[in-house]
Order: sequence, then structure tokens, then C-alpha cells
Amino acid sequence: MNPRFIGLLSGTSMDAVDAALVSFEDAGPRCLATHSHAIPEDLRQGLRTLAAPGARSDPDTWGRLDARTGELMAAAVQALLENHGIDAATVRAVGSHGQTLRHRPQERPPFSLQIGCPHRIAQATGLTVVADFRRRDMAAGGQGAPLVPAFHRYALGAEDEQRVILNLGGIANVTILPARRDEAEHGTPVRGFDTGPANALCDAWIRVCRGDAFDAGGGWAAQGRVDEALLAAMRTDPYFHRPAPKSTGTEHFHLDWVRGHLGGRSLAAVDVQRTLVELTARSVAAAILETAPRARRLLVCGGGVHNRCLMESLEANLPGWDVASTAVLGVPPDWVEAMAFAWLARETLAGRPGNLPAVTGAREAVVLGAIHPGRDGRI
Ligand SMILES: Nc1ncnc2c1ncn2[C@@H]1O[C@H](COP(=O)(O)OP(=O)(O)OP(=O)(O)O)[C@@H](O)[C@H]1O
Ligand SMILES: [Mg+2]
Repeated sequence: MNPRFIGLLSGTSMDAVDAALVSFEDAGPRCLATHSHAIPEDLRQGLRTLAAPGARSDPDTWGRLDARTGELMAAAVQALLENHGIDAATVRAVGSHGQTLRHRPQERPPFSLQIGCPHRIAQATGLTVVADFRRRDMAAGGQGAPLVPAFHRYALGAEDEQRVILNLGGIANVTILPARRDEAEHGTPVRGFDTGPANALCDAWIRVCRGDAFDAGGGWAAQGRVDEALLAAMRTDPYFHRPAPKSTGTEHFHLDWVRGHLGGRSLAAVDVQRTLVELTARSVAAAILETAPRARRLLVCGGGVHNRCLMESLEANLPGWDVASTAVLGVPPDWVEAMAFAWLARETLAGRPGNLPAVTGAREAVVLGAIHPGRDGRI
């Protein structure tokens, strides 16, 4: 049997804990089973409060949430196994990203903090767990993010075509994949960075305006009009103009950031929503056109693929490009990130580096994460 790993991810959107069982075959990764585990509302609230910029927290709150999130992640793995009748003995290990509370790559010293006690996941499931991937890259001088580009290269690269991969999670990140031939013959590097917000601001705005968790299908945004003045104001944020390597999070792009740029002007709420969608599309398109002006193929993953308003506005900002979901390559767009952490666990257990120094800015490629033994000390 091909080696099988579980990837566990809860992104900045805090929409759910995603678990994917992935088989690594000669032809590439295959997503065998998936499970999206609901986050109880009180836990989500607690995590949001703790992750909010400027939040005051005490070690008790932090410790409690770390333990509860770890238990939830363990439950997500168990539900995946039970729902699909998978024997845990056929799973080599779990790769767990953790729930990000802070990501401060620009700070001195830089740091990134993910919680979700991996000991509890290992204890409850009996599986070996690899977790805490970002901090080793940071210790090597990197941003600790994004870490998915190496997986994108492995799973979505092509022999003789340059491709751009776009993940539309809470934050948007792009990977510029050179044709494998160019990488091999000319050493053309893979590049990748966070372009700025994707769903995080749209989710936050619709939540306060209408009480919805997200704008299903982008239907509400589609009824609004882009306010060019607000858009221009938001695009002056220095993050958009900073060169890579760069990565960001909701401690930078949050509701008060939007309110600050609104500056007391009274715009229709629906127009703000549409403008936030346009901000994502234009900042992504500008970053792509600057970094990969000759590419024509954009493959999109992450929850944002379901937002038609966002996808249409992306296409409008990338004329002449072939824009499609990663599903066209047989890789389910909602599960790419979870699959990436299954793969990163595999690389760690094989003693192979998981970061790309050209992406994160690390001084060297390093083996990522911490290994938590499974039942009977199994590593
Ligand atoms: N049917 C849908 N219509 C519109 N938007 C959707 C739909 N389904 C999901 N989304 C959007 O996708 C978001 C979740 O995306 P995803 O799970 O990829 O992000 P994430 O958990 O933040 O991950 P990461 O930031 O690590 O990439 C939701 O919060 C929502 O904004
Ligand atoms: Mg998610």
C-alpha cells in the first residue's frame, strides 16, 4: 500500500477544521477521504478574541484554548477515520498546521504562534503527529510562511508550462511555479508569498452587517458597486508594495483596518463588500502580473473559489489568462491546504526539508516541525 497521511488544517477564516487522508502515489498525491469538523461557536469566539490584534490575554486563556483546540483536532481525525471506515493502522502520521493566533514575521525577533495541542492529537488517536512547522523556518531566518508552495510544486507543477497557483483562504497566497524543465536546466526558483487579504475582510464585514459567516457564492457582493476611492485608499497600504518574501495575517488585515480606510464616509454596506472583493482581485492580479508577466495559467484553490463575484473579478483583472480551479488537475480545491500538511508531515518523517528558502527567505532549507510519537512510542 502507498503511504497514507492525514493533513489537518484550520486556517485564518476559522470556518472549520479540515482533515484529509492523502495517499502518496507514483502519479502524485491522491485525496482519499475528507472531513470538515465544525468548530463550536464558543471556542471560535474564544480563538477570535485571542487572535484579535491588541487582545489582552493571560496564560490561563491561552492554555485552555490550546487544550480545547487540540481535542477538537483529535476529534476531527477520529471522525475522518470513523466516517470512512479507515483503519488507523494504515495511516503513517498526521501533519497538523495548528490554529494561528499570531503571525509577526516583521517583528524583531519575528515569531508565529499556532495552537492546538499536538500531544492530545497523538494521545487520542495513537498516531504519530508532526506539528509546529512554521517556527523552524523562522529559526532559520525565514518568514515561516507560506509553506504550501513546495507542495504546490510537487502536486501541481508541469514539465513545460509556467503556472501560478492561488489559494483564496482568509489570506491570499500565490505560488509561481516555473516549468519543471526551467527549474532543472536553469535553476529558476519557485516563488511564493501572501498577496494580502482574501476572504478574511469580506467575512468580517458581512458578519457585522448581516450576521452571516460568509457571502455564499458572492451573491451579496455581486449586488454592490466598487467604490474606487475606498479601493485606492486601501491599496496604499505598504504591505501591497513591499517586495517578497512576505507573509501576513488577520492581525494586519482586519475590520478596523477597513474602518480606518472608510474614514467616517458613509458608503452602502453592499458597496463596501463589493469593494473588498475587488481589493482581493486587484491585489492578487497586480502581484501576479509583476512576478510572472509571461504566465497565462492560474489555478485557484481555497474557499474563495466558491465566490463567483471574486472569481469573475479575478478573470476581469487578468485578461487573456486561463483561470480555473485546481479541480481541473484532479486536486480538490477545498482540500489543497490540508493535503499540503499531510505532505509536509511525510517530508519531515523522511528527513527532508519542507521549506523553500527562495519563498520564505530562510537562510537554508530545513526539516520542519516537531514529531510527537504515536502509540507505543512509534515515530
Ligand atoms: N460557498 C461559498 N461561497 C462563498 N465563499 C465561500 C464559500 N465556501 C467557502 N467560502 C469562503 O472561504 C472561506 C474559507 O476558506 P478556506 O477554508 O480555504 O480558508 P482558511 O480556512 O482561512 O484557510 P487558509 O487561510 O489557511 O488558506 C470562508 O470563510 C468563506 O469566506
Ligand atoms: Mg478553512
